[in-house]
Amino acid sequence: MRTLPLFALLTACATTPDGDTTDDTTSGGAPEACAWEAAPDLDPSPDVVEVEFSAGMVEWDPGNGKPIDGLGFGGTVPGPRIEVTVGQTLRVRFHNDLDMPTTIHWHGLRVPEAMDGITQMDHPIQPGETFVYEFPIRDVGFYWYHPHMDTATTLEKGLYGTIVARAPGEVRPACEQPIVLDDVLTSRATGQILPPGTEMDKIMGRLGNILLANGREDRNVGIKAGDVVVLRLVNAANARHFDVGIDGVPMTLVGTDDGFLAEPQTMDRVALAPGERAVVMFTAPEDVGGELVLMNRRVHLHEDGGGETHMSETDPLGDGENAVMRFTVLDGGTGATWTPPAYDLPPAFTAGAPVHSWVLNEDMMGGTVTIDGKSWPDVPTVTVPGDELTTFEIDNQSIMRHPFHIHGNRFEVVAIDGQPVEAPAWKDTFPMMPKSKITIVSQLDNPGTWMLHCHILEHAEFGMAGLITVE
Ligand code: C2O
Ligand code: CU
Repeated sequence: MRTLPLFALLTACATTPDGDTTDDTTSGGAPEACAWEAAPDLDPSPDVVEVEFSAGMVEWDPGNGKPIDGLGFGGTVPGPRIEVTVGQTLRVRFHNDLDMPTTIHWHGLRVPEAMDGITQMDHPIQPGETFVYEFPIRDVGFYWYHPHMDTATTLEKGLYGTIVARAPGEVRPACEQPIVLDDVLTSRATGQILPPGTEMDKIMGRLGNILLANGREDRNVGIKAGDVVVLRLVNAANARHFDVGIDGVPMTLVGTDDGFLAEPQTMDRVALAPGERAVVMFTAPEDVGGELVLMNRRVHLHEDGGGETHMSETDPLGDGENAVMRFTVLDGGTGATWTPPAYDLPPAFTAGAPVHSWVLNEDMMGGTVTIDGKSWPDVPTVTVPGDELTTFEIDNQSIMRHPFHIHGNRFEVVAIDGQPVEAPAWKDTFPMMPKSKITIVSQLDNPGTWMLHCHILEHAEFGMAGLITVE
């Protein structure tokens, strides 16, 4: 039996520098509170959460004293945190203050097709225009939102935000910290984000030279000694795969893309491909004043699940480990614990005969990335009847990883290279390893035409994208 790579990768734990030292020479001021601070709900009805924000230019300090002329939702990077409960309707009054047309995609949420930001690409929200997104919240989980036009540029510049969808009656943890992981490629001299690179850079995926947690490289979050800390992690990077952990502090994975796990898993590290999310918890140590460092291990995009690298590649951050953010242990702990809600847990599905096998490939020389031998928009649309459990395969014949994302519907990975996956988890994005094939079972109860694509944004723009019509 094999587990999901999300879990399996966790064993590849390199030695870390003293992650839990009390050396605070790099400390950048008082730690911020561990909290989910939601955007205000502007609608008094308990059935509706209404938020309002715009996308526009934002001068944003990544924490190195060189402000970036970036973009943001609601004037910040990341944008407003949205909090909703399953059964509520989310309404977002969105103004486009960018100088380009845009749309918002609600990554992972099963929204009606017209709200998905894709069909809208034919008639996007023009500069100066307002659009009201409105849809019911069906699923518990941790989601995120971003434009679905010029994604490689707009996400790199900071256009993304997070959404927590709570179970009815969900009890909030005392310390719950959303963390948007990202990297940006900046000029060392000016600090500005560099323009897109060559075609070959795009095939390789754009890796940054600074790591960001919630838009900054110097995040320091206060946690209380002995209390449980819940992290909601999302990887918003263009191409970088994160593999994070805190030396000497085991974490428990309790949630994946679209909800919680029936059986939480304890691990040293958590791996997240672009687009993926994870909810993890750990207990803060007792040493008040101590510091924990969340370290990222470099992941080669041409490295497979077994640790074999199929092609060399360079990383502007080098080969070692890099700090992502810190936690400072404060006093005042109450021994707070937290039990994730047992709500809509993933059942164990059994694969049927696959109705389609998507083949992912790339042609380095030709400079193309393909699905079923074609690049967007020529990839043939797959049409399937809806409202049932449908089995598909995804076959990555290339030597590179491709995080495969399907809009509008959630799935479970039931086999990897023919080996059954033991722990069911709701997913909408899956890190396809080089030369590997997975079997998924999709719950296709959201009719419409949905995009599916690689979440390495350069690949998506280069054509590794197709459509599925659920009837
Ligand atoms: Cu997060 Cu179509 O993407
Ligand atoms: Cu890809």
